[in-house]
Amino acid sequence: MSSMHSDFNTKTNPELESEITEIIADLSLEEKVWMMSGHGFFKVFLGEDNRQFGRRTYAAGSGCERLDIPPLYFTDGPRGVRHIIPTTSFPVSMARGASWDTDLERRIGNVIGIEERAVGATLSGAVCVNLLRHPAWGRAQETYGEDPYLLGELGAALSEGIQEHNVISTVKHFALNSIENSRFKVNVKATERVMREVYLPHFKRIVDSGCASVMSAYNKVNGDYCGHSKHLLRDILKDEWGFKGFVHSDWVKGAYGPDAAEAGLDIENPDPIFFGETLVNAVNKGDVSMESIDDAVRRILRTQMTFDRAEDPRVYSKADVACELHTSLAREAAEKSFVLLKNDDLLPLDKSRVKKIACFGKLMDTANLGDKGSSCNTPPYAVTLLEGLKNHASDTLEIEFYDGDDLDEAKALASSADACIIAAGYTWEHEGEYIPGNEAMEGLEEGKNMMSRGGDRSDLRLLETDREMISAICAANSHTVVAVMAGSAVIMEDWKADPEAILMVWYPGMEGGSAFARTIFGDVTPSGKLPFTIPESADDLPYFDASVLEIEYGLYHGYTLLSKSGVEPAFPFGFGLSYTSFAFSNLRKAKGQDGCAFEIDVTNTGDRAGDEVVQCYVGFENSEIDRPGFLLRGFKRIHLEAGETKTVSFEITSDDLMYYDEAHGEWAIEDIPYLVRIGSDSLASRQNTMPFHLNEIRD
Ligand code: BGC
Repeated sequence: MSSMHSDFNTKTNPELESEITEIIADLSLEEKVWMMSGHGFFKVFLGEDNRQFGRRTYAAGSGCERLDIPPLYFTDGPRGVRHIIPTTSFPVSMARGASWDTDLERRIGNVIGIEERAVGATLSGAVCVNLLRHPAWGRAQETYGEDPYLLGELGAALSEGIQEHNVISTVKHFALNSIENSRFKVNVKATERVMREVYLPHFKRIVDSGCASVMSAYNKVNGDYCGHSKHLLRDILKDEWGFKGFVHSDWVKGAYGPDAAEAGLDIENPDPIFFGETLVNAVNKGDVSMESIDDAVRRILRTQMTFDRAEDPRVYSKADVACELHTSLAREAAEKSFVLLKNDDLLPLDKSRVKKIACFGKLMDTANLGDKGSSCNTPPYAVTLLEGLKNHASDTLEIEFYDGDDLDEAKALASSADACIIAAGYTWEHEGEYIPGNEAMEGLEEGKNMMSRGGDRSDLRLLETDREMISAICAANSHTVVAVMAGSAVIMEDWKADPEAILMVWYPGMEGGSAFARTIFGDVTPSGKLPFTIPESADDLPYFDASVLEIEYGLYHGYTLLSKSGVEPAFPFGFGLSYTSFAFSNLRKAKGQDGCAFEIDVTNTGDRAGDEVVQCYVGFENSEIDRPGFLLRGFKRIHLEAGETKTVSFEITSDDLMYYDEAHGEWAIEDIPYLVRIGSDSLASRQNTMPFHLNEIRD
């Protein structure tokens, strides 16, 4: 077995299976059911931890004292390990989605794995890949974007990186979980085709990469709670995809009865509310089969024993947590994630010419790391944008900051400066995981008096105070940069013409301020690309209502919807500028592994080094069925010195062309001319296209 457990879901280990058969034969029903839930969460959460979530790892399944089997220990989350010990805080996943860098994401997974091991965790909740169907989704920041291919590649990289350190990675939340406020109640309806083509491919990609655990989502899909969905858990995940690990529920109310075990939920977390004694009774009454109990225990033990017995690539110690190597990776991630949306020759700021910079906005001076839901971690320090600029500035550069609301004062300062920087956007108060306190805990004594927080965004524009500030400052000084802090798309039509530069900086992690200064002053050139579409108007997006109890998800959203409706976006999917420029030329067919590959030359035509994310789409313009006009099917981030040219190659396989034929319940392929399109973003790729036919490519 390779160190990242890449064959976990494809290879069988007969000796291990017979060992598990013997253990199962030796376990009583009570012992088996004990393994099928977490234990002790409420006791420590309400007792010793005084309702402070995430101070420790939580026992989250498995465990049999008599046989010396320890429980699994779980921690969140996507932007770094959550624990009382301060850990490395990375830019949020959406920022890393904008890096389009699988190698970087794998290295981030390594760091999360190392820090998990250092705090004693064996099960990690870092891999969140729910699809960004609409930018108002409160937890957008925890995922990688709107496109299933991008989600799958980045999620697989993170999962592999974590599992390299023999920590079991759980991919969440399975599935169709893209609204926050109503997540405990909403019934998401979707056809089989929509699920297979849009909402599930990334989960499959990650399972194929060896990810050994799946967390079910809170919401319902086609009438069943996900933890009770036999179709999702048994038919698709376990039977069809061959997943060999275990499925556990999301935290509290991820299951509503013992029948979830029959449907394929192996563990209820974090405590046995609906499993435990109720499940033992259900088995005794014949309502739940012993077969499903044994299957759950086998999956739990198979995963745990495989990971426990694999050789560790290193030793783990608390000294590794948030060490310099790890925090410098947080800075690299931030630098690669910033997306330059506009630049009228203002950036990078030239320190020899700019003598005074005026900074505005409370977020300039705030450690704005993301939401305060389950993914919230605590770094030992966090460099704000302002601190980053000050640390970077030389003695001859004056940096002034005004955080007040008096626009006249702000304007006076702005007009006295050579350049202005405004930080605008959101915090955990405006978007994030909705922790609905009493509602989630309804009927449970433990849940009384828990405060609600977070949730879906109510507006896609910036706050009014930000918009007024931008307009006032840009009127006083046009040499202004707006740094936008947010977890997903912000509609910018009302102000985007005003500043000379716009930089999307997300929730940039503990080293965000250092990365920001290095970008502003040109030590690095921005190279991030939007992992979603920014529309001109919310009307261009699919229907979204954070309070609905039922909603239908369709085949189109983001770039597939805008191109289908013939609407130009404000900024297309995959878009991002650089301080240098790149030219694409000479798209051609070349010999690939079994069929043809598509090659293109990319040249850095500017005067400084930079990274470009080369994107490959397949066009389905000639399709005879209703399907997206084009879809992302490959990407590569490359580094080019000034003047350098590199050839980038993509192989398309027949899998990339498939659609789900609902009538026959299987994947099918059309015998039509296809189009490959390669470029610097989803729309620019229209400039380099080449037709090809099915028989030219690899099966
Ligand atoms: C979240 C999960 C998280 C779990 C444990 C839930 O509320 O939805 O993403 O892993 O809590 O913290």
